[in-house]
Order: sequence, then structure tokens, then C-alpha cells
Amino acid sequence: MTHSAPLHVPSHADLRAVVRIVGVASALGAPAPGPEAAPAALERNGLLQHLQGLGVAASWQETLVPLTVPPAGAPMRERLDAVGELARRVADHLTALAPEVFPLVIGGDHAIGIGTWRGVATRVASRGALGLIWIDAHLDSHTELSTHSGNIHGMPLAALLDEGDPALTGIDGPRIDPANVAVIGARSWDPEERERLQRLGVQIFDMAEVRDRGIAAVFCDALSVVRERTGAFGVSIDLDALDASAFPAVICPESAGIAPEELCDALLALRGCGDFAAMEIVEYLPDLDPGGTCAGWVANIAGAALGPSTYLLRAKEREFGAHNYAPLPVVFRHGRGVWLWDVEGRRYLDMMSAYSAVSFGHANPRLLRALNDQAQRLALTSRAFSNDRLPVLMERLCGLLGYDRVLPVNTGLEAVETALKTARKWGYKVKGIAPDQAEIIACEGNFHGRSITIVGMSSEEQYRDGFGPFPAGFKRIPYGDADALEAAITPDTTAFLVEPIQGEGGILVPPAGYLARCAEICRRHNVLLIADEVQTGLGRTGRLLACDHEGVHPDGLILGKALGGGLLPVSAFLADAPVLDVLQPGDHGSTFGGNPLGAAVALEVLAILDETRPWEHATRLGERLMARFRDARLPCVREVRGRGLLVGIELDPAQLRATTAAELLLARGIATKDTHNTVIRFAPPLIITEAELDAAADVVLDTLAAATTHRGQTPLQP
Ligand SMILES: Cc1ncc(COP(=O)(O)O)c(C=O)c1O
Repeated sequence: MTHSAPLHVPSHADLRAVVRIVGVASALGAPAPGPEAAPAALERNGLLQHLQGLGVAASWQETLVPLTVPPAGAPMRERLDAVGELARRVADHLTALAPEVFPLVIGGDHAIGIGTWRGVATRVASRGALGLIWIDAHLDSHTELSTHSGNIHGMPLAALLDEGDPALTGIDGPRIDPANVAVIGARSWDPEERERLQRLGVQIFDMAEVRDRGIAAVFCDALSVVRERTGAFGVSIDLDALDASAFPAVICPESAGIAPEELCDALLALRGCGDFAAMEIVEYLPDLDPGGTCAGWVANIAGAALGPSTYLLRAKEREFGAHNYAPLPVVFRHGRGVWLWDVEGRRYLDMMSAYSAVSFGHANPRLLRALNDQAQRLALTSRAFSNDRLPVLMERLCGLLGYDRVLPVNTGLEAVETALKTARKWGYKVKGIAPDQAEIIACEGNFHGRSITIVGMSSEEQYRDGFGPFPAGFKRIPYGDADALEAAITPDTTAFLVEPIQGEGGILVPPAGYLARCAEICRRHNVLLIADEVQTGLGRTGRLLACDHEGVHPDGLILGKALGGGLLPVSAFLADAPVLDVLQPGDHGSTFGGNPLGAAVALEVLAILDETRPWEHATRLGERLMARFRDARLPCVREVRGRGLLVGIELDPAQLRATTAAELLLARGIATKDTHNTVIRFAPPLIITEAELDAAADVVLDTLAAATTHRGQTPLQP
């Protein structure tokens, strides 16, 4: 089917103008040739492709070249006129671009800024005055009279503020009010320059201040300077603002500057600014960047600032994605440890861990190394052949968990499906159940995944609605009731499938002794006890397996989520030989199941588990978290329950809905999600520290208390 219906995604033009890259191949203001080659070099190194890859509607518009290039050693007058003439053309060029265009100007030396910002000021004049952030190691505020070096790339900021030779100051366009100019990262200047900017009232956040307060805080202040009573603002980046050891390919390198990755993180804030009108990146020197590393940073810098916003990405997802999820209003861009950052650079504590899959933290260096090393060697063979990682994983898993055999698959539901197929076949081949009569017992409130068979077992109406008919041979009993299990078992019962703690069901912990009694009942009736530890396994609940709390060794064990280290889907079904040996070649399998890439990551997961024993930490922190939540005695809280770092707060829906609580927490930097509208879950990566967890608990308690206070439940304190 072709997509002929009109698309409703707001175009970039509606939110952030379509980006046009304008090169200015000039070294007129520089002490020596070199920077004029920058636009072509950056184009060759994939600046445009990087932006397009991020989803930015970008194109390379054209590259302007100076019409006259004075010879080396030409008098100042001649050079000023040449720079002025080029600046005028740059300004005119930008002025002529369609209103919806967002210009990304690529120098050249910084003298081109005179043209860029006069042109941009003209472009935005109907909206109001232009503010300007000038990120630079230098102040660029000499005039032809005060200059020591004689280089015009040391003059553009003064010229933009109307100080200097008329060839530079006289370019058409509205004047920029110095009160709306902020310089960031300066660390090398002549006294006359600083005196000039201070006299004019420019706000200077020098490098000492950047080091002291951090680029993010300084950038935030700079934004308020340039947005005060202006209609729009621009950002000019002289790449020598960056630390010279990380970014040496500039005309005037200066040490002790801004780290490129920190600048990128700060620039993310620009994505949410509808009044961000243009950007300029100058002073790149390709000759000093033979490997293209610095060109890569330029692309990252542009991408950080110009990449799509939360709003645009969510609109695209709504427009083009099936609506089988209703994600909370945040778009994450990167994660490290227990932290996540959204596309505008806001930081969140991850209290979800992707439904407990990211137990060892985002971008865990050991897991990344295992992934990268293996990806470069061999990622997939299918199990038509053996690979050199899977057998090792199989041996380790069986040894660690005490089973004879393992069947590796990808997602959790595949492992559940594997368990169900194996249990049925065992029922027929070993237990002797008559053909097609095998029964499997599951629990009310279960969650084992989303296939037709599995939702057929569910008691949740929404999971089933519209997906029938469901396979026969499944029965449900109340969760936590061992007598109900005994009563439900018939001679045709082959297996009882149970979660040791119901995660999606609402972090429901069954009564003490439940699992042990179920195990005893199953043993007595020759029924397989199959534990779904996809969510509870591998340290989450304070033991290696949640079954360990009751000393239960189930006949079948389902693992998933954390086994893939939060990097890949790796799941498994484990059982002893009499059970799993019912499967013959060809009975079951999957193209990706047991792939060497997943196996290498899972092997590293097992090594981390062995070395760090995170369940001990999870027990202590989980108890601490639950005690904090219980002791607060908030009126909106009905119950606090959980085990280890799988904790739920059940709210009184008459006072606060869990969906609302999740949104309020998100706004305060805590990423988590409700289950069943009534329970908010807290399942951070197991590597979370006590201090991080305490800080999160403070925010959670404060948010819940405030939410109910605002609803008038508790009188506001004077
Ligand atoms: C207990 C349990 N089993 C199975 C699954 C399904 O796993 P997947 O989403 O990887 O298919 C889940 C997912 O949340 C789960 O919590």
C-alpha cells in the first residue's frame, strides 16, 4: 500500500526551520590560509549526513567565496575592505533565505561573523531584537586601532557592537544591543578588549567561571541574557573555545578550554528553544585534522543544537508508529549508569530500568566492551551451526543455576512459549497424558508476555480483547493461594507457571511460604513447577533468583531481561534433562536465539553477577527505600510492597492516580511508570547508590505529598 494520506507530523518548518548549511570559505581575517578549506572539508566528512541521520531536514545550500583576496602582507585598509565586502555578501545572502530556513553558517575564520549576525538580525527583525551567544576562547573585540596582531578575526564582536572601521561596522542590519550578548569560555584576551566589552555591557562568562560552575549552568544563564526582551537569538561558536588537546584543529588553539562532549550536552538545551534563529561554527582548520576527529566533533556540536525536539520526535512517533504504547512525555537520547538524558539535555534518574532489564546500568563499560568485541568478531550464525560463545554460556548458566540443560531464545515471551511447549511435550511423552489433553495452570494477574497463547492465559481483559480465539489447555487460579493450586490439579495437569513476585500485576508479593508449598504440591502430583523469573531474576529481588527466598528450585526456570545486560534481548528456559530432552532437532528454535553476540553479553552479565553479588546491595537498599516510603505515612499511599529493588507504591486512586504520579515524577526528574493505574513501581538499576536512592526517595515523597496537598487533602501550610 502506498501512503497517499496527508501526513500530519508538524514539519521541521513548523517547529524549527529547515536547516540550510551555508559555507563561507574565507581566511580573510586569519593570520594565514587554511580555514577557507573548512566548509568543503566538513562537507566531505559528513556534516550534512550526520544532521540528516538525526532526522533534521537539512541541506547544503551553497558556499560563498571572497571575490577579492588581498595578497599576504596587504595593508590593513585593503584587508578591511575585503572583509567588509564579504560580510556584506554573507548578510545579504542570509537575508534572502526563505523565512522558514534556519541558517547554519560554516566558516571560514570568525571575521565572517560580522556578516552572519547582521544578516540574521535582519531576518528576525519582524520578531524583535537579536540576542547573541558568542562561544570563544577570545573576546574578538579589537578594532583596527587597538589590534596587536593586525588580524581581523580578532575584531568581529566589536564590529557587531558598532566599534571599529566603517567597512566592518557599516553592514546593513539592525544593531545588536550589547546587553543581549553573552560571551562564554573566554580565556585569552588583551585588556582593551575586555574593557570594551565591559564598557558596552556585554556579559562575559569567562573560562574560570565555566570551570567553576559548569558549562550547563553558564549556558543556561547565557540563554537568559540573550532572550531578555529579544525576538530571537543566535549562537556563534569559535571552535577554539574547546580544549586544544581535544580539539587541536583550530587557528588559535588555547589550552584549558571546554570539553567537546560537555559543550554538546549544554547545546542540547537549544532544541527546545523556538526562538533559536541561527548558528555559526568557525575557525576549523582541516590541515590539522587529518583523521577527521575534529570534523566529527563539529557534526556532533551541530547535531546537539539542531537535532529534533521532544515535541517533534513524539509527533513523528504518533504519526508513523502503531499506537500500542502511550509513552510518558519524554524522549531519551542517552544514558549512563542510573541516569538518562532527554533530547533537550534534561537528566532523569531511571527508576524503571526498562522493566528491570537494565540492572547493571546504562552504557555499562564491561558490557559494552563485551558487545563491541564480539560484534567485531561474529554476531550471528543461526543455530544451523555452532558458535564459540553459546556453549560457554550454556555451561555457565547451567552451572550457576543448577540445571542440566538450557534453551536460549531472545525475548521473554519466547522463553515462556518455550517453557509451555516443553511442558506440554513432557506431559505427553514422559507423564503419559493422553494426546491434546495437557493442561497448564497459571495465575490471576499474571504477566508472561503478549503472544496469543500467553495473553490467552491472562486475566487482564484489555490484553485479551479482540485477540481470541485462544489455545485451549490453560486454567487460572488465584495468585498466592496454594490450596487453589492443589484443587485445580488434575491427572492431565502438566505444569504450573508462576511469577515469584507479580511485576506487571502490581508488584504483588505472595504470602510467605507460598512458593515452597506450590513446589511441594507440584512434586506430589508430578506437575512441573515453572518459575517465570524474567523480571525477578538475576539479583533484582535481593537473591540471585526470587525463588531462592524460599529455597525453591523450580523444575523449569525462565530468565530474560537482565540476562541481556540491557543491551540485547537474551532469554532462556532452563530445566533438567528429563524435561528438556523431550525436544528433538527441529521441534523448536529461532534464527537469532543463542546468537554469539547475545551470548557474549550474557556471559559478561554472569561474570558481573559473580563478582559484584548485587543482590546483597539490592536487599539493603530495597529495605531502606520501603522503610522511607512506609514511614512517611502519606495519606495517598495504600501500601508499600516489594522485595529488593522491585518496589511498588499502591496509591489510593481517589486521591492520586498512579499515571498522574508518574507524570509528576517525570517532571521532577524521576523516570518511572505505573502499573495498572494504581501502583507506581521503583526498580532502578541495581548499581544505584544509597545517596542516589535517598535523593530519589525525597523527591518521590515530596511529589506525592504535594500532589495530594494541591488536591486539597491537606491544608497548605502558611
Ligand atoms: C514476568 C515476565 N515474563 C515475561 C515477560 C515478557 O518478556 P518480553 O517483553 O521480553 O517478551 C515479562 C515482561 O515484562 C515479564 O515481566
